[in-house]
Amino acid sequence: MSGKIPKYFINEILFRTDIVALINTKINLKKSGKNYQTHCPFHNDKTPSFTVSYEKQFYYCFGCNAHGNVIDFLMNYEHLNFIESIEELAILHGLDIPFEKKNIIERNNYSKKQKVYSLIEKLSNLYKKNILITNTPYQYLKKRGISNNMINFFSIGFSSSTWSAFSKKLNISKKFEKDLLNQKIISINQYKKIYDPFQGRIIFPIFDQHNRTIGFGGRSINNFSPKYINSPETNIFQKRKQIYGLNQVIKKYKKPEYLLVVEGYIDVIMLTQYRIKYAVSSLGTSITKEHIQVLFRNTDTIIYCYDGDHAGRDAAWRALKITLPYISDKKNMKFIVLPKDEDPDTIVQKEGREKFELRINKALTMSKYFFKNILKNIDLSSNDDKFHLSVRTLPLINSIPSDTIRIYFRQRLARIIGILDDNQLEKFLYEEERKNENVTFQIKKTPMRILIGLLIQNPCLSELVPSIKKFKNIKIKGLSIFLEILKTCLNNPTFNTGQLLEFYRDKKIINIIKILSKWDHMIVQEEIQNMFTDLLKNIYKKDLEQKRDDLISKERLIGLTKYEKEEIWSINKKLCKK
Ligand code: UTP
Ligand code: MN
Repeated sequence: MSGKIPKYFINEILFRTDIVALINTKINLKKSGKNYQTHCPFHNDKTPSFTVSYEKQFYYCFGCNAHGNVIDFLMNYEHLNFIESIEELAILHGLDIPFEKKNIIERNNYSKKQKVYSLIEKLSNLYKKNILITNTPYQYLKKRGISNNMINFFSIGFSSSTWSAFSKKLNISKKFEKDLLNQKIISINQYKKIYDPFQGRIIFPIFDQHNRTIGFGGRSINNFSPKYINSPETNIFQKRKQIYGLNQVIKKYKKPEYLLVVEGYIDVIMLTQYRIKYAVSSLGTSITKEHIQVLFRNTDTIIYCYDGDHAGRDAAWRALKITLPYISDKKNMKFIVLPKDEDPDTIVQKEGREKFELRINKALTMSKYFFKNILKNIDLSSNDDKFHLSVRTLPLINSIPSDTIRIYFRQRLARIIGILDDNQLEKFLYEEERKNENVTFQIKKTPMRILIGLLIQNPCLSELVPSIKKFKNIKIKGLSIFLEILKTCLNNPTFNTGQLLEFYRDKKIINIIKILSKWDHMIVQEEIQNMFTDLLKNIYKKDLEQKRDDLISKERLIGLTKYEKEEIWSINKKLCKK
């Protein structure tokens, strides 16, 4: 790969970059003798095993054996590829990459990227100017209580309701317009008029960690739907990685003691205005693994503070599940549960700064929040409930990498269920499963139920299904449930049964899944695969037979078209093959 960028340039970049300084902008290094040390970002590290050598311009970890130069570091830490890592470094040093001639594509990509950065930056400045000279959006922000200070601090702007009005008012050059069109930042509509997807919207620029504007969020001020839109995904703007407001936080505080994750742009802005520190948000999308890695790179504590409605509570629980695998003795999360129908923006305006600070100080610890939530709607006097409680929660607890925290959670769960020793949890599950056999045995075994049961108990069977499309138009009772579960298994190839149960926790079909998950189908392990594929074939066959019979009876009644005759013929051929 390195052939694409000349070797000398890579050397030049390495020569100019100090690995200690670069890593230190991302994780705090402490000097120790000749080298620098810290906890390793690549594994759950209890002692500082990660060492960076200024002399060697090299990092290595005694714990997990991660090692490399500054390019390797960027590739592993920022999840960039080789070329992208060099680009990052080149941008930091303000150098142009002299791509070798044969690599026109890379060169074009790189210069396109730089071009797009500068266009977005310029456009953002125009939006920003525009809001100060346009009454309606400015009044809108005033009405919502947003101060001039914040408009400035977050570079809030406005795109006028038509591009022509905007370009006239701000004296936009034809050349700039053409560049924006070429990069598809604006476009031409069916009436041959230039069209900005953000027109009529308040603009919230989104910055990356190098303080570059990479995209926008836009709120409609005249109730156009949708209320908010974001720039489309590109190679410089990826919603699953971006955190709104983080850049502003980090500019002020290098290592914030926590990051307060809220849902909306306005929430971030209003909290900041009320001098509530460290407010950030994902861009209206639910939080991802990548977001969590970015957050934990910048702080040791994430505090989730989602809206007090149903959606907000669901989002908080989802965030917990996604964050658990990143929890360690140093990295933890907390939760603020807001009163019903409030969001951070409304409540801080009502209560003021001090009361909100109090909410932060009293945020629920991860374990309080976790156990409070899993015990909702659980009857602890019912063994069945206790069984489901453990089936659902054990996979979550087991996803915590830190031994101490995981064992503590397991012990608490064991105590709740009434078992003294958390080592007995799996045994309890097994025994309950046995006891339940008698009940579940009475359920009638239809082929579809067996099929669903086998899939739930062995989610990896999903790989054996040739194609979902094949089953699309088949009408058999239960098929839609099978396809639903199948889709989930295919989307989450590492799911086990417990995780599948967790996935459907609040959904209607959880009851069927619960029953079939402990159903003893009496099929020996070696035969499960064959049984599963046979059942699939059968369903397909049954559908063909049904279609053929329908056509035959139609023939008797009104006759068939040429096309239908051909269909019968092809169905017969297929049925003979089976
Ligand atoms: P909310 O609907 O909670 O909006 O969406 P809000 O932040 O309270 O907005 P205001 O107070 O009515 O202005 C929260 C976040 O979800 C994303 C946006 O990022 C928003 O800030 N969102 C919302 C969208 O992406 N699209 C939408 O249509 C709505
Ligand atoms: Mn709001």
